[in-house]
Amino acid sequence: MAPIASLLVTEPGIGITGDSDAAARRNVAMTAAVAALGGLLFGYDTGIIASALLYLRSDFDLNDFMQGVVTAAVPIGAVFGAALAGTLADKYGRRKMVFASAFVFFIGSVVSAVAPDTTILVISRVALGVAIGLASATCPVYISEVAPPDRRGSMVSLFQLAVTVGILVAYLVGLSLSSGGDWRLMLGIGALPALLLGIGILRMPQSPRWLVMIGDDFGARSVLSKIRPRDDKALEQELEDIHASLQEDKVSWRELFKPVARAALFVGAGLAILQQVTGINTVIYYAPTIVEMAGIGTGSSAILAAVGVGIVNVIVTIIAVRVINHVGRRPLLIGGVFFMALSLTVLGIAFALPEDSGVVAPLAVGSLMAYVAAFAISLGPIFWLLNAELYPLRVRGRAAGIGTMANWMANFIVSLTFLSLIAAVGASGTFWIYAGVGVLTILFVLRFVPETRGQSLEQIEQHWQEKVGS
Ligand code: BGC
Repeated sequence: MAPIASLLVTEPGIGITGDSDAAARRNVAMTAAVAALGGLLFGYDTGIIASALLYLRSDFDLNDFMQGVVTAAVPIGAVFGAALAGTLADKYGRRKMVFASAFVFFIGSVVSAVAPDTTILVISRVALGVAIGLASATCPVYISEVAPPDRRGSMVSLFQLAVTVGILVAYLVGLSLSSGGDWRLMLGIGALPALLLGIGILRMPQSPRWLVMIGDDFGARSVLSKIRPRDDKALEQELEDIHASLQEDKVSWRELFKPVARAALFVGAGLAILQQVTGINTVIYYAPTIVEMAGIGTGSSAILAAVGVGIVNVIVTIIAVRVINHVGRRPLLIGGVFFMALSLTVLGIAFALPEDSGVVAPLAVGSLMAYVAAFAISLGPIFWLLNAELYPLRVRGRAAGIGTMANWMANFIVSLTFLSLIAAVGASGTFWIYAGVGVLTILFVLRFVPETRGQSLEQIEQHWQEKVGS
């Protein structure tokens, strides 16, 4: 353990080398890529359940409610992980928290793969959830604190891209193991990226902002010299800005209730909830089940439809990462959510038609794909981006933790209730409810969400101050 402990405190990070401008760009990209592995695990561990569920429900004889519990164990664990993340990441550093999450990811993956019964399975998936909560609250903030302002948008969105790749890999693994129905291997494979994340993060630098927070200016300067172009004046200026934003005295929870933080949190946590209650994970977690319900196919052909969903999700997220800085957050959100609501309405109609009408299958699959594409260009990446850039610097860690918690809490409620909701109001009614929430989301964005494109974090903070006073 001793060598690991020393790697965790090594500055500026043994994996980043060179002192040219090109090396600095590469070092930032590498740090963001390693931290984004947290997103990959987030995606894999939440996505794999869609395939594994098809097989483990018969092995463990799970009814609808218990299937919901197995699925929702991850989101509920993530609520706890995110609740812990803000304070712990301020105390022990972002990098240690990412390492801790990789460690728990590894253990959780192995234990869920060998689980002898439903209880152990649910417990290990709650542990995986804790790891995901830690990672999803810490990784985007860690990336945003390492990235230079002009590349922050795309670097943070890399996290969402990794989430979608993780989901796609989960579907592909599910598909290739479907003939044997080997759900244990499906769950166990998550241990591999966890190992990569754990080893990778040990070689990356601490967040320079966190180093300033704990009074280690020497360490912060040394990290910045590796991840910024060679310009001593700019480097000193950045250090000075970080100092100014921290104002030296200790940050307390009470600050979250000051007008600026409160206003920002209302928008961040509101979007966190809306990102989930518009139903994305009913599709991500239950895509094969939805396809089966529409009478299109069973087993591996149902998983194949899920692979299509995963591919669309990745491709459109790549487009989002490229256009986010040019088009602006608000137009993307409003347009994207409009098409989400529209495709959910059509999906509901597909389920209302008689199965032998011949149009159910293309209508259901087409609207599923359109829905995922609309999410991937709007609420998917933009929530995580805003959750890392909306809050005042002094409370960003904690506020991002709360936004993340709200997101997982809503995720938990939606995934727990989805199958029961279908039993109560039918598939059509269920998707129409999510469509209605989409309309509310558009109104929320129009009224409350500020445009942050092209603005520095200080300007965003200024916007809140002008709007609500300090
Ligand atoms: C959401 C996840 C979702 C994923 C799908 C993320 O932004 O937070 O809940 O599974 O997108 O791509």
